[in-house]
Amino acid sequence: MELAGQVNGEGIDSWNTIIFLYNSALKEVGTKLEILNDEFQHVHQYNPIEYIKSRIKSPESIVKKLKRYGYESTIDNMVNYINDIAGIRIVCSFTSDIYRMAEMIGKQNDLTVVSVKDYIKNPKASGYKSYHMLVTVPIFLSDRVVDTKVEIQIRTIAMDFWASLEHKIYYKFEGNAPDYISRDLRDCAEIVSMLDAKMLSLNEAILEARAAQRHDMWKQMPSVGATT
Ligand code: GTP
Ligand code: MG
Repeated sequence: MELAGQVNGEGIDSWNTIIFLYNSALKEVGTKLEILNDEFQHVHQYNPIEYIKSRIKSPESIVKKLKRYGYESTIDNMVNYINDIAGIRIVCSFTSDIYRMAEMIGKQNDLTVVSVKDYIKNPKASGYKSYHMLVTVPIFLSDRVVDTKVEIQIRTIAMDFWASLEHKIYYKFEGNAPDYISRDLRDCAEIVSMLDAKMLSLNEAILEARAAQRHDMWKQMPSVGATT
């Protein structure tokens, strides 16, 4: 099997081939995630995924990142050094769903997990939290199979809310936000974590209360075939 990158020659042809591969990889992984979510709904009557977003990195962002890393803008460098050309974001209800999703993804035989970064256990200095997985998925072309990289980010709705707004605010300051803004954003990240923890324990309490209710209902039902 070859890894995307061993595409001969440079130029617009190989650029189009590469983008085609990354688009195909997004489709493959997207479908996989939908199936896992549907199966979960079928078995547990519960959806761990609230929504999924996917995107292909724009050529401008690819070139900018290569420059930041100190590489020339070539197709080979882009394929070898940029891991998030194809990106999928899975937004879950609860923190526990994130680890559940990560485990399910890890068990998929046709996906190879290249690396994992747990920014929930180890948040970034900015306050950023999410669970990142870099995976490769085989793309079956007519004459060959190409393993293609996809960056998967898994977060709760609250983490996504924080990351989206932080990104917007930071963008305005081009990365040089005044100290008090960075501090306030870190404080907000703390509030987001508290909210997630509270929602999770609330959900657990609701599940327990419902289980207890069902148990009581069973006890009150006359048993089938009873003579008295
Ligand atoms: P990049 O060069 O930024 O891609 O970093 P990396 O290759 O070390 O990957 P990392 O896993 O650290 O982060 C990649 C992605 O996570 C970014 O493209 C963002 O989508 C997201 N991310 C990481 N840190 C932050 C942050 O502080 N704030 C926000 N809003 N998003 C972040
Ligand atoms: Mg990135």
